[in-house]
Amino acid sequence: MKSGFSKLTKKEKINWVVDKLFVDDVESKKLLEQYHLSNSDLQKIHDDFSENTLSNFLLPLGVAPNFLIDGKDFILPMVVEESSVVAAACNSAKFWYKRGGFKTRIIGTKKTGQVHFLFDGNKKEFFKFFDKIKEKLMFSCDDITANMKKRGGGIISLSVLDKTKEIENYYKLNAEFETADSMGANFINSCLEQFSKTLEIEFNSEPRFNDNNLEIIMSILSNYTPNCKVIAEVECEINDLSDKDIADSNLFAKKFKTAIKIAEKDTSRAVTHNKGIMNGVDSVVIATGNDFRAVEACAHSYASKDGQYKSLTHVEINKNKFKYWIELPISIGTVGGLTKLHPLVNWSLKLLGNPNAKDLMKIIAVSGLAQNFAAIKSLITTGIQKGHMKMHLSNILNMLDTDDDERLKLIKFFDDKVVSHSLVKNKLKEIRNG
Ligand code: MEV
Repeated sequence: MKSGFSKLTKKEKINWVVDKLFVDDVESKKLLEQYHLSNSDLQKIHDDFSENTLSNFLLPLGVAPNFLIDGKDFILPMVVEESSVVAAACNSAKFWYKRGGFKTRIIGTKKTGQVHFLFDGNKKEFFKFFDKIKEKLMFSCDDITANMKKRGGGIISLSVLDKTKEIENYYKLNAEFETADSMGANFINSCLEQFSKTLEIEFNSEPRFNDNNLEIIMSILSNYTPNCKVIAEVECEINDLSDKDIADSNLFAKKFKTAIKIAEKDTSRAVTHNKGIMNGVDSVVIATGNDFRAVEACAHSYASKDGQYKSLTHVEINKNKFKYWIELPISIGTVGGLTKLHPLVNWSLKLLGNPNAKDLMKIIAVSGLAQNFAAIKSLITTGIQKGHMKMHLSNILNMLDTDDDERLKLIKFFDDKVVSHSLVKNKLKEIRNG
């Protein structure tokens, strides 16, 4: 066990790790140094984001132009390591641009947090007591909420829920919040911790509970935000769906609907279907400096809200109309957090025209819908591997250290062929042997 690791300088940390696990591997230290921006201001900023930083871990930042959202043009910033995600976004964006673009609407922006506690006394008395101290609980957060109120946010409601059927003596104080353009995690958690302090103080000075106990278990926001939700949709005449890959638009619409139905009924498909949606969602969430783990957790729990894990996208075919949409709860921010601190996050937000939180929710939902459209379109027409393998070829060529001339020859050769690592390797050998 190593104590005091965090107190070491970065150099000492690197030396310790290298001496411990990479003694004979001279390249490993070089690698860390290569990605470390020695003595730069940017490195100082990065080092403050997290603990025990040794270096930086880079991911590609790409852009997807031609997104028409509520009549306005956008270029989406996308941070993602998987080939084909940005290409898929671009294809979808272009496809729907020609058909009127994406339309969005916000369904709500409420977030919640809970103080979970145990109480072993009379329920009725507790609810009376809660009504009496509710205002006090609110007031006790005045210092924390002052700034948020100026920005249009704050605490919206407070209630206590009886959960004793689920766990003996278990209650939760449920608070609803508006957090304006911030994600609001710190704000919500600070309010909740203050509620729990005030609740304990008031409880301890209440004579009717002299013989009872109240035990605070924890105070924390919920990343499940079903009332902070956005819908993004596209719509067109079925006949207008035709393009180079869609010869028969009626057949395409029918197959598309069946594909969505399968993702509504079959969990093994639904998980992959929603994973594809999250390819688009996470790429923009990361580029804009938001918490993708929170967004992921929320999306997947929402997908199971009816007791079965289901598709987050839906389709309706009515007469000759094809309507397709995503309903996504999503809690993000465009102020606070990394938004000003990380230069590329700041740049990405500028690229989007410095959206407020509601507008960013819309853009992210569109990115998810676009990604799902591209995936289903490929799956039910050409198959997914055609596009994927083209991008994958690039990775294989890098792995095999090809030069420019070899690359050109191999790309040309595999243009109409199925790519595999061994086939590329063999063909390269052939080229190198003349
Ligand atoms: C790959 O990252 C995502 C897809 O598998 C999504 C899907 O199957 O819908 C292509």
